[in-house]
Amino acid sequence: MLYGIGLGPGDPELLTVKAVRILKSCGKVFVPGEMAADLIRPYVTEDPEIMDFPMIRDKEELNRIWTENAEKVAEYARKGDVAFCLIGDPNFFSTFTHLKKVVSKIAPDIEFETIPGISSITSCAARMNVAVESSFEVHDGSEIGYAIHLKARKPQEIIRRFEEKGFKEFIFAERLFSDREVIIRGKENIPEEGNYFSIVFAQKWRMQVSERFRWMQDSYE
Ligand SMILES: C[S@@+](CC[C@H](N)C(=O)[O-])C[C@H]1O[C@@H](n2cnc3c(N)ncnc32)[C@H](O)[C@@H]1O
Repeated sequence: MLYGIGLGPGDPELLTVKAVRILKSCGKVFVPGEMAADLIRPYVTEDPEIMDFPMIRDKEELNRIWTENAEKVAEYARKGDVAFCLIGDPNFFSTFTHLKKVVSKIAPDIEFETIPGISSITSCAARMNVAVESSFEVHDGSEIGYAIHLKARKPQEIIRRFEEKGFKEFIFAERLFSDREVIIRGKENIPEEGNYFSIVFAQKWRMQVSERFRWMQDSYE
């Protein structure tokens, strides 16, 4: 199993209990940099391996480095549980999303799971002493490709409004991570009525969901 583990925004006390438990149980731990390594050192006996992902423009060289790194991760993941740990959350603007894609091409038999972390997107409010009380946008300079609607009591109505803005794929979820969790993929399967503890996730691109990947956002053609 290859775990993508979110380490939170930068304070070792902001790792989740689950992140620490899984981290400790993994035979090998990779991190993309010194900051992530520092965050997990209080919890592991063996030093994590720092994997370099240089920010260069040469596509061939990038491809070579990503393939080499993915091959190394896959080699360990074939033998047992491996953790790849990142700052914040592993599904938001994260190296893990692309790494997962490259690893699955090299070794389609390897299973993945992501452990959420406290993202800079939400944790910044605590340090800045601000609060978000209405809809808000998160940008990294690229076009908007995703949207999340909270309090999705009328999911189909919400989907219709998203479709007018060009969104094409939808997931509805209720009571996530609880023993009453519901996750429904695809507009045609989503009900008219939801309850307060619900979310509609919307995406502008086609989503591929294989049996092994419960949540694979990065596999577009
Ligand atoms: C590649 S993104 C990773 C985001 C991360 N996965 C998350 O969930 O927060 C890197 C960007 O996240 C933001 N970021 C992450 N941690 C931060 C922190 N502790 N303080 C401020 N910004 C942070 C910065 O804008 C940085 O350029």
